[in-house]
Amino acid sequence: MKWTNLIALLLTSMMVAPVQADPEADRLALRDFYQQKFPDIDLAEFQNGVYAIDAKMREQWVEMEDFPPYEIAIDEGEALYNTPFANGKSYADCFGDDPGVKHNYPLFDQARGGVVTLEVAINNCRKENGEEALPWLVGELAEISSYMAYQSRGKSIDIKIESPEAVAAYAEGQQFYYTRRGQLNFDCSGCHQQQVGQNLRAERTSPTLGHATHWPVYRGRWQFVGNIQKRFQECNIQVRAVPFKAQSETYRNLEYFLTYMSNGMELNGPGSRR
Ligand code: HEC
Repeated sequence: MKWTNLIALLLTSMMVAPVQADPEADRLALRDFYQQKFPDIDLAEFQNGVYAIDAKMREQWVEMEDFPPYEIAIDEGEALYNTPFANGKSYADCFGDDPGVKHNYPLFDQARGGVVTLEVAINNCRKENGEEALPWLVGELAEISSYMAYQSRGKSIDIKIESPEAVAAYAEGQQFYYTRRGQLNFDCSGCHQQQVGQNLRAERTSPTLGHATHWPVYRGRWQFVGNIQKRFQECNIQVRAVPFKAQSETYRNLEYFLTYMSNGMELNGPGSRR
């Protein structure tokens, strides 16, 4: 058999494989899990991560939020967002009049055949207008995304998973979340679900529910704003696994799954964390 035929065969068998994922059932089960685990915590509070479950850490965080460390990033991001491209067009030509569109991302783009995160959409907009793509994790892209997140505050996450291809991308992200890796042999849920709230060195692990509401995040340890995929890399490294590339298909699918788990929750980004 010619190798092209073999690949075609493989692809076909992948496409007809039964799709078993049921994102909405998964989301409700996860929500119930945390509500049972923390019966005194309001559902909306989970957008505050570890500060929803630790009163002392929360106190320090509330103090920090008096002078939000991400404010400069929002201002810089706004200026960048409103600077026209060399061709005279601007981000508004891609995103519309309201830059507050974060609640729709990541989305599954049928034409591109994959998950598009807000960062990918920003860089696509640049490339379509003859500008160079920006580095993924920190810097100008994280600032533009911080401004867009700020403009999206109060909107409810509204991720759509409508086609079989989108369900498959979700299922891959979900599988990643529940696959053990690294020398420590932990999966994401090991720390954020089974052992949620446990002390880990100087930190406590936060619930998966609400993980996607508040990005980008200014971290004290970083001293700048970074996006959620930087955190994915760090959590991979924490278990001594090799991190994946930012905006790789693996991380885009993971972000798709993880954001869907917070569907319906209010956005409150950008955020600040230790
Ligand atoms: C060994 C334990 C451990 C594992 C495994 C782990 N994390 Fe984390 N994670 C942490 C700790 C500790 C923090 C910082 C405290 C917190 O907010 O949970 C954190 C923070 C996060 C945050 C930021 C939470 C916030 O409120 O801003 C996200 C998102 C996250 N992890 C996702 C993941 C994903 C995805 C995986 C799997 C690839 C993963 N984590 C695996 C320990 C872990």
